[in-house]
Amino acid sequence: MTISLTQRGLRCCLLLSSQRLALSNTRYSSQLVLGIETSCDDTGAAVVDAASRTVLGEAIHRQTMVHTLHGGINPPVAKDLHKQHIHSVVTDAMTAAGVQYSDLHAVATTLKPGLAMSLIVGRDYGRDVALQHGLPFIPIHHMEAHTLTVRMIEQVEFPFLCLLVSGGHCMLVLCEDIDRYSRLGSSLDDAPGEAFDKGARTLNLRSLPEFMAMSGGAAIEELARQGDPNCYSLNKSAPLSGYRDCNFSFSGLKENLRHLVEPLEEEHGLDGDTVLPSPTLQNLCASYQHAVFQHIIRRTHRALIYLDTTRAIPDTVQKTLVVSGGVASNKCLREWLQKLCSIEGGYRVVCPPPELCTDNGVMIAWNGAERLLADKGVLRDTQAIRDVDIMHRCPLGEDISQEVASMRIKISKYVKML
Ligand code: KG4
Ligand code: ZN
Repeated sequence: MTISLTQRGLRCCLLLSSQRLALSNTRYSSQLVLGIETSCDDTGAAVVDAASRTVLGEAIHRQTMVHTLHGGINPPVAKDLHKQHIHSVVTDAMTAAGVQYSDLHAVATTLKPGLAMSLIVGRDYGRDVALQHGLPFIPIHHMEAHTLTVRMIEQVEFPFLCLLVSGGHCMLVLCEDIDRYSRLGSSLDDAPGEAFDKGARTLNLRSLPEFMAMSGGAAIEELARQGDPNCYSLNKSAPLSGYRDCNFSFSGLKENLRHLVEPLEEEHGLDGDTVLPSPTLQNLCASYQHAVFQHIIRRTHRALIYLDTTRAIPDTVQKTLVVSGGVASNKCLREWLQKLCSIEGGYRVVCPPPELCTDNGVMIAWNGAERLLADKGVLRDTQAIRDVDIMHRCPLGEDISQEVASMRIKISKYVKML
């Protein structure tokens, strides 16, 4: 469990045309948005200046270690920890920013999707701040926030393709505007971060002190660096290989890992609570990570071909693949995607820095800033703010996966890892 408090000056002078217009209307005066995130197991808050794209202050309380000890996220525990920490996290973010509530222009809060018990804590807190201080309230979709974060620090114009890979979600989405999204494909079962978290549990990584406070994905990445990705075969037939679409499936890989690990543990005389010796452990991590990413690369490859075939990105817009969500902080995935994009269709790959890939308050504040500048989804009416509700489930945008599948796109040559 850690509390980190940072004050940073992420600034980007590149403004998009729509924002330039919005900023000229505000005469470049500051537009301060407080963002609050509590959708899962991180209590995050940040103050962002929409006009200068600057993070004025942020704070986060992560529950990773508590839930790792529980063997997975425990919603009532998550709710209690959010309740315990939300006031200090928001106060720390405001203090780091050096601003008062009267300086703010809006409050943005994650309302969907996520753990209902956790979302309610943020909703209540954010709504109270807005009502007490007479501020507009901006409801935020957690996945929309992941897709837009990168626009705070890089010039990325709509439309762009986003690969969103986190602990709760996996999707390929065409982002056409702040409030217009088309899902090319999504996971039919687990998310890749979930596959890593469960894989780390199968491998008992939490019994190693150095990985106790780390997410499963980060622990597997570190061990995989010293392993051979071709040592074990986890996907004799690749997941969904018979389906020429952009959907994902990770639950089979997770099961295959378990079937590999159990006899190995027996062979080494382990009781199930200790880790396999080196280099077996490192080789398993490297092979598992390789299998998860190979599947992601293949589905992303098909998405790039689909966008080119349908000419979804106009020639006037630089083709961009944005990679976001907790799993996007993985260096191996980033490199493999770079290779794919350099070979297929001339896309550039853009990722937020790792600390902005995992859940945080900045992404919520920035999403609020984008919506404030565009005046989309900003609630100003007191009763409307009082009435805001959370949504446990809420897919992002329109599902076009059937349309993608109907094209039966065949990939003649898969891109291998570096
Ligand atoms: O976006 P995020 O913070 O929360 C959700 O919205 O789900 O993502 C958390 C997920 C966890 O499952 C974690 O194992 C994974 O991101 N993750 C990673 C890495 N760092 C975090 N997966 C692979 N490699 C990493 N370096
Ligand atoms: Zn997330």
